[in-house]
Amino acid sequence: MTTVAVTGSSGKLGRHVVRHLQDRGYRVVALDRVPDPGSVAAVSVRVDLTDYGQVIEAFTAVDDRHDGVDAVVHLAAVPAPGLTTNAATFANNITATYNVFAAARAAGVRNVVWASSETVLGLPFDVPPPYIPVDERYPVRPESTYSLVKSLEEEMAGHFCRWVTDLKMIGLRFSNVMDPQDYARFPGFDAEPGLRRWNLWSYIDGRDGAQAVRLALEHQRPVWTCS
Ligand SMILES: NC(=O)c1ccc[n+]([C@@H]2O[C@H](COP(=O)([O-])OP(=O)(O)OC[C@H]3O[C@@H](n4cnc5c(N)ncnc54)[C@H](O)[C@@H]3O)[C@@H](O)[C@H]2O)c1
Repeated sequence: MTTVAVTGSSGKLGRHVVRHLQDRGYRVVALDRVPDPGSVAAVSVRVDLTDYGQVIEAFTAVDDRHDGVDAVVHLAAVPAPGLTTNAATFANNITATYNVFAAARAAGVRNVVWASSETVLGLPFDVPPPYIPVDERYPVRPESTYSLVKSLEEEMAGHFCRWVTDLKMIGLRFSNVMDPQDYARFPGFDAEPGLRRWNLWSYIDGRDGAQAVRLALEHQRPVWTCS
């Protein structure tokens, strides 16, 4: 059985990912600094990802809870601009992501899927995008500290792949994550289309996000390389 560490496992997207992976036969090691009492993960460990020692231990062995992981899904972050100070967002997110990437490398994990963000495309588009629809060739244009960190993490992931040639890392630029109950707000969006202009009216369902994570984990071939 494949054992997958999921960081940010107590969060909005993480809960969908844990449930989906467990349903599909994976053994999930849930990692978060805040426990999820309703978690269906096989193993849950409270971890502060800004502490490298905790991350390396969480990926290699924690007493009798588990003795290592085969893959890592990294979702933990302060998940949007403005939730805390910019410096606190930067410090938490960049440190946690460096620690996760570096500890995965040190632990011999060669399959990493992680959350980037649609914000790197220039949200909230106060400066109009050069073209739409946006695509993979669209230049990265962070407009917030949160988004700046995501774009730095994309750059960092490229260099980890350059250093470890058999490492597969897939960063998914998720759009605004919705739970089923969030759809009650959609008629209001229809009535006032300007409300959703900030991300060009996009969103994903958290259950689809979980499926995208699993498909990325199961994808065998590196999708891009850094020369
Ligand atoms: N929610 C969205 O609309 C959205 C859109 C695009 C990208 N994303 C990205 O997807 C990922 C998941 O987002 P979410 O909506 O589930 O966020 P969330 O806030 O619901 O969950 C994030 C989880 O990460 C944990 N966490 C944060 N810092 C940590 C640390 N230092 N150590 C341990 N745990 C830590 C939190 O406790 C929380 O449970 C994030 O990386 C976010 O940036 C989210």
